[in-house]
Amino acid sequence: MRKIYVIGIGAGDPDHLTLQAAKAIGRTDVFFLLDKGETKQSLIDLRERLIRGYSHPRKRIVEGRDPDRDRTPADYTGTIADWRTRRSQVIEGLIDEHLGDGEIGAILVWGDPSLYDSTIAILEEILARGATTFEYEVIPGISSVSALAAKHRIALNRVGRPFQVTTGRRLAEGWPDGVDDVVVMLDAQQAFTAYPDAEIYWGAYVSTEDEILASGRVADVADEIVTTRTAARERHGWIMDTYLLRRSAPPQAWARPAGRAHALRPGVVGADQPTGSITIDSPGSMIASMAMMRSPATVKLSAIRAPWGVCTRAPAVPSTVAGIAPCARPTKNRAASPAPRTGAAGSAARMTTSGRAGRAGR
Ligand SMILES: C[S@@+](CC[C@H](N)C(=O)[O-])C[C@H]1O[C@@H](n2cnc3c(N)ncnc32)[C@H](O)[C@@H]1O
Repeated sequence: MRKIYVIGIGAGDPDHLTLQAAKAIGRTDVFFLLDKGETKQSLIDLRERLIRGYSHPRKRIVEGRDPDRDRTPADYTGTIADWRTRRSQVIEGLIDEHLGDGEIGAILVWGDPSLYDSTIAILEEILARGATTFEYEVIPGISSVSALAAKHRIALNRVGRPFQVTTGRRLAEGWPDGVDDVVVMLDAQQAFTAYPDAEIYWGAYVSTEDEILASGRVADVADEIVTTRTAARERHGWIMDTYLLRRSAPPQAWARPAGRAHALRPGVVGADQPTGSITIDSPGSMIASMAMMRSPATVKLSAIRAPWGVCTRAPAVPSTVAGIAPCARPTKNRAASPAPRTGAAGSAARMTTSGRAGRAGR
C-alpha cells in the first residue's frame, strides 16, 4: 500500500517544524510540490530547505504546476470547487507516476493542514474517484493564527468566551453573530476598516524575516496598516496577513455580580447602588464597556475588583463615564498581577517590523 503524509510545516519559521513532522519528512520517499509561480518562490524555498534538512538522501522531489484560478469570481464556491478538482487531477497524476507500491509520499502544507487548506479535501476527492489508492496521515503544524497570537502575546479567546476564525470575504458581509473576537484570514480587501472601534492585532509574513506587526484601535492604525500592506505587497509581489479583531462586549457578557450584587445594565450603572461592587476581567475592558453604555447618569462605584483583587474604592464619579480612571494596581499582590503590556490592550498603536535593513525598527 502506498502512503502519503500531509505535513504541516508552520507559517514561515523553519523552527516551527515539529519533531513529528521532521520524522515524517525523514521517512518520506517522494515529495510532491505544487509550484505556485515565481511570485511565491519563498514558499517553495521553505519547503526545499526543510526537505534538505530532514529527508534521507535517496528521496525524490517531483513538481506539478498549481492550476490558475479566477481571484475575483462571481461564483466563489463553484470556482473553488472547480479549482480543487483541477488540483486533485494534478496531484493524482503525480502520485500515479512517481509513488511506487510500499513507498511514502508527502505534501508539505503551509501552517496547519486543518486550517484553510484544501490538501485533505483533495486527497479525499482523489480517493473518491476510485482510480488511485493510498492511505494518508495528517501531521499538524503551527498555523499562522497561532504564530500571530504568539507574536502579539495574546490569547485568541477571552475567559469562557468563543472566538471565530473567518475570511475577509465573510467579515466584509458583517460582524459574525455570537462572537466578539474574530480571527480573519485571506483578507484581500482589508475588511477590518469597517470596524473603527475594534482593537486589531495584525501581522503580515508572520514568523518570517519580513514580518510586520501592528496593533491598536482600528481607527488609530487602519491607515498605517493599509499603507504598509500595500507597499509590502508591491515589494514582494504577494502578501499573507492575518489579524484578530476584538470588540468590547456588552457588559452582561463578562461582568458578574459580587458582594452586594447588582446587575450591570446600560444607562443605570451603579447610579442607585453606591456601595455595590462588580467583578471585572480587567480595568481596561471595563472602561471600554462603560464607554459603550453612553450613560448620562452619575456613575458611582464603591469598589472595582480586578483580577488581582479589589484595587480601589472609587469615589462617585460625576457625569460622564469617560471620567473614570483605571484603578491603580495595588502594591501588595503585585506578584500575582499580569505582566505590563503594550499594544492594543492599552489602546496604544504599535507597528513593528523585522528583517531586512531599511525598515523601521522596533
Ligand atoms: C490558504 S490560507 C493557509 C493557512 C494555513 N494553513 C495556516 O495554518 O496558517 C493562507 C492565509 O493564511 C494566512 N497566513 C499564512 N501564513 C501567514 C503568515 N506567515 N503571516 C500572516 N498570515 C499568514 C493569511 O491570511 C493567508 O491569506
